[in-house]
This record gives sequence, C-alpha cells and structure tokens, in this order.
Amino acid sequence: MTIAEIKTEFYNAITNCKTVSELQDLKVKYLGKTGELTAVLKSIKDLPAEERPSFGAKVNELRKEMESCFGQRAELLKSEEMQRRLREEKVDISLTSYPRRGALHPVTLVEREICDLMIAMGFEVLSGPEIETDYYNFQALNIPEDHPARDMQDTFYVTDSILLRTQTSAMQARLMERKNPPLKVVCPGKVYRSDSDASHSPVFHQIEGLVVDKNITLCDLKGTLEYLASHLFGANTKVRFRPSFFPFTEPSVEVDVTCSNCGGKGCSLCKGTGWIELLGAGMVNPVVLENCGIDSTKYNGYAFGIGMDRVAMIKYGIPDIRLFFENDQRFLKQFSK
Ligand code: DAH
Repeated sequence: MTIAEIKTEFYNAITNCKTVSELQDLKVKYLGKTGELTAVLKSIKDLPAEERPSFGAKVNELRKEMESCFGQRAELLKSEEMQRRLREEKVDISLTSYPRRGALHPVTLVEREICDLMIAMGFEVLSGPEIETDYYNFQALNIPEDHPARDMQDTFYVTDSILLRTQTSAMQARLMERKNPPLKVVCPGKVYRSDSDASHSPVFHQIEGLVVDKNITLCDLKGTLEYLASHLFGANTKVRFRPSFFPFTEPSVEVDVTCSNCGGKGCSLCKGTGWIELLGAGMVNPVVLENCGIDSTKYNGYAFGIGMDRVAMIKYGIPDIRLFFENDQRFLKQFSK
C-alpha cells in the first residue's frame, strides 16, 4: 500500500470507529510494531538512497497526524461513553427503599413541650426512681399507714415498704431533703396504679412541679399554670381553681382549663361543661416541709401534679389512653413530622 492509500483507509476506519476498544485495535493495526505504517516504513530499504529521506519524512508526518487523530478521537469517544453511562446507569432516587424514620411518642412530645415551658420560667428538670419506698410515696407526704387517702390510689406493692410509685409527688420529699430552699423543680416520669379503662392505664405519666421559697402565694401558682396552659392549649385558655383535698397540700385545688376543643362553649370532650379537669395542686402542707427539715415559719411553697397522658389526649384528640401503650404503628405514625 502507498502512503496515500494508507491515509485514506485510515481516515475511513477511524471515523467508523465507535468505541474506545475498537479505537485501541485500530491503533495497533496502523501504528503497532507489525502495523501497516511500520510495514511501509520497512519498505524504505527498497528505495533508491536519495528518495529515502523524503519518504521517511512523509511516513513520520503521517504517523504524527495519525497519533493526533487517535488522541482526538479517543477524547470524543470517552466523553460520549461517559454521557451514555450517565444516561443509562442513572439511579432512581425517588424509590423509597430506605427505612422509615422513627417519631417521638405523643407523650414524649408533651413532656418535652411542658419541660421547655417550665425551663423558660426558671425551673430545673429532675427525675427520680419508679420503684419507691412507702416513706417517700406516702408517709413523707402526710399520708400515714391506714390513712384513707391511700385508697385513692391502688398501689402495686413490691414488699410491705417498697412499691411502684403511684405519683411523682414522691419526688417532693427527696428534693426538699437534698437541697435547701429556694427550690424550683419539675419531675416528669412514669407512675403506676392498678387501674385500667379508657381513661386509666396501669402505667401512665405525670409531671410534678414544686416551688419552695419565701412568700409564695396561690397567685404564683395560678400565674405559672396560666402561662403553661396558654402555651399548651392556646392563648385564650383560661384556668380555674376548685377547692379540693390532698394530704400534702393545704389549701388544695383541682385545676380546670377551658376546653380547647370548643373554647368553653361546651362539647362532647368537656361533657358540655366548657371546662376540662387537668391537674391537682396546692400550697405545700407545712407538715410536709417540717418532715423534710424545712422551717415552715420561714418558707412555704406550691406544688402541682399534671397527668401528661391526659394533656396529650386533650391536645391531640385521643379518645382512649390505652392507645399510648399498644405500640400500634398506624397510631404512632400520625405523630411523625
Ligand atoms: N399526686 C396527685 C395525684 O397523683 C396529684 C397532685 C395533687 C400533685 C396536688 C401535687 C399536688 O403536687 O399539690 O393525684
């Protein structure tokens, strides 16, 4: 083959070349040790001596031309191949095969919300033991053995003197024994009672509030609860105190809030009254202060205990407390953001 023939053939071949590996084969075919161009160069020995330099120069020129062609073609094919792979090997990220994210339990949401609000008012958040002594759960709170108030709560006893706490109020004496006033603490946690129906569960959640300082009044209690209720249930929520009895507070009150469902007009949630009973509270009984070594002539305080499951039921319109403990994914999923 002449140089011109090789050149024509080469240009045809390279423009038809569709892949990098075909191009590689072509390179070997033309420029390899036994390739076409090398063969032509070898034929130089058959030429008369004076023609050899110009022939050699022409072959070298073609070799350079071919090399640069290979380079350009390789670039082009590589980029085409990359485009094709990007098109074909595309990952469909809309396929949701990854695991679903979990969500916080509605009672946890309420607990966090209440704690955040209390922290904003300067309260500390502490937790205590769920397996408690009879002393902290009852006696220190002015509920001696055989006191009728014990019948208000069906207790799970572990031994005669150890029980599953029936109320987070059990933390009151622990706190007052440990630290001198001023005290401003909330204690969220689980409590246990042998009771079960749509509004009672053997395990449920309370948050106890305790303030001990000088010159504390019922107004301080009411202001605190008004702040809490208006943030939990809406700005227009009103708070009402009704006289009640708890051995560890004197006076004691039952606290109602205006129904968040009907705004106080009366509906099925509030049984037509416009009010929802939310918590028990009162001024710390001086007997309890003295039980914990606090001088009740110098200090006083208030306490309150909120059922957090009840708050969650009102807030989210949940009709049955048992839904909180059944771990039904269909129920729990509704609270994921
Ligand atoms: N511990 C009471 C209960 O479980 C609720 C309670 C009432 C807590 C009055 C208080 C309080 O701190 O002052 O029924």
